[in-house]
Amino acid sequence: MNGQLFRALAVMVSLCASGALSCPKRCTCHVSRQTTEVVCPDAGLSHFPGEGLPSQTTSLTIQFTNLSVLTSKHLSGIPLLEELHLPGNKLSSLPGDLLKGLRYLHTVDLTDNELRELPEHVFHHAPLLNLVLKDNHISTIHPDWFPNSSNLTWLDLSGNLLMKFPVAQLQSLSNLKVLHLSQNKLEELPVGSLDPHPALERIHLEQNKLKSLDVNAFSRLTNLTHIFLQKNRIDSLPPTLFHGLTSLEYVDLSDNRLHFLSPGTLDINTSWVELTLNPWHCDGKIEYLWRKLTLESLQSEPKCAAPEKVKDRAIATLNREDMGLSEIQDPPESQVAAFANNQ
Ligand SMILES: *[C@@H]1O[C@H](CO)[C@@H](O)[C@H](O)[C@H]1NC(C)=O
Ligand SMILES: *[C@@H]1O[C@H](CO)[C@@H](O)[C@H](O)[C@H]1NC(C)=O
Ligand SMILES: *[C@@H]1O[C@H](CO)[C@@H](O)[C@H](O)[C@H]1NC(C)=O
Ligand SMILES: *[C@@H]1O[C@H](CO)[C@@H](O)[C@H](O)[C@H]1NC(C)=O
Ligand SMILES: *[C@@H]1O[C@H](CO)[C@@H](O)[C@H](O)[C@H]1NC(C)=O
Repeated sequence: MNGQLFRALAVMVSLCASGALSCPKRCTCHVSRQTTEVVCPDAGLSHFPGEGLPSQTTSLTIQFTNLSVLTSKHLSGIPLLEELHLPGNKLSSLPGDLLKGLRYLHTVDLTDNELRELPEHVFHHAPLLNLVLKDNHISTIHPDWFPNSSNLTWLDLSGNLLMKFPVAQLQSLSNLKVLHLSQNKLEELPVGSLDPHPALERIHLEQNKLKSLDVNAFSRLTNLTHIFLQKNRIDSLPPTLFHGLTSLEYVDLSDNRLHFLSPGTLDINTSWVELTLNPWHCDGKIEYLWRKLTLESLQSEPKCAAPEKVKDRAIATLNREDMGLSEIQDPPESQVAAFANNQ
């Protein structure tokens, strides 16, 4: 017998023996030796597809359907579940005991549902590592969503209606590496907000209404590699804000309200800083940024917004006279050398 055919038959026999060939209507099931993935993408689906759901399911995806109710009873038939993906459904709430008994569940994705308020303990009961609540209608977070010993490393709350940074509610998440709070309505980052999360590597705060940042906002986060602050209302930065962040690779400050940067602000270990779409005021106070741009080749090309005579000019193309600085002043020799090296 043809070897391939024989193997296919052997797999089918073993699947039938374990009953794994059952699959809910409107869903597709993919079975391998270690995983059983069920995907239900049918818009006509409006109830949990419990009938025929393989009991050994490790990954369940129900997406872009009319599903509006989910209970712990639905999930109790699939205790080996590791990943639950529910993007684009009509869920407006979840019961507090939803994840009870799911001892292997590490990832839950509820992107683009209609979630508003979730009850206490809703994310207890399972050893979650990744939780995505992006694009819902969440304006408040219960202080007891998460267990004290949570191992969550990835939390995405972007695209919700948070007006205040949920300091106390996120307090127990000491293992967070990635925190998404972009596209909310945050007006400030209260002093010490991020201190409970010393393992943070990426902080997404873009598209909020932040006006300023505390000098020590990031100072305890020595593992931070990426800071996203674009599309806020930041009009000044403490000059030592990014100092001591030895792992920093990228900072996005574009589309804010910065007029100039205080000397020292960008004396950091990365030149990958995005600075465009700020109303840079190119008088003498822009000299520090101009030096950084011309001598250290930052990877951004910010332009002047004022004064009128230099409007829309790239800051790096200005000369000392353009900035209203006296022309006769030799830069220190070290900087001349750095400049020459850059050519
Ligand atoms: C989803 O539910 C809405 C409201 O109950 C209904 O009007 C619509 O036809 C349903 N969509 C599908 C694809 O069944
Ligand atoms: C977090 O991980 C530790 C060590 O693996 C474990 O003992 C603890 O129960 C976990 N916490 C939760 C809430 O699952
Ligand atoms: C969790 O932590 C809070 C604040 O630190 C404490 O009040 C509470 O008793 C703790 N709960 C448990 C179950 O350990
Ligand atoms: C920072 O990263 C290092 C290397 O990955 C890790 O060993 C250390 O535990 C991290 N620090 C914190 C506070 O998580
Ligand atoms: C700067 O980055 C380099 C290359 O990653 C690293 O070797 C060096 O230790 C860093 N220095 C500081 C002050 O962070």
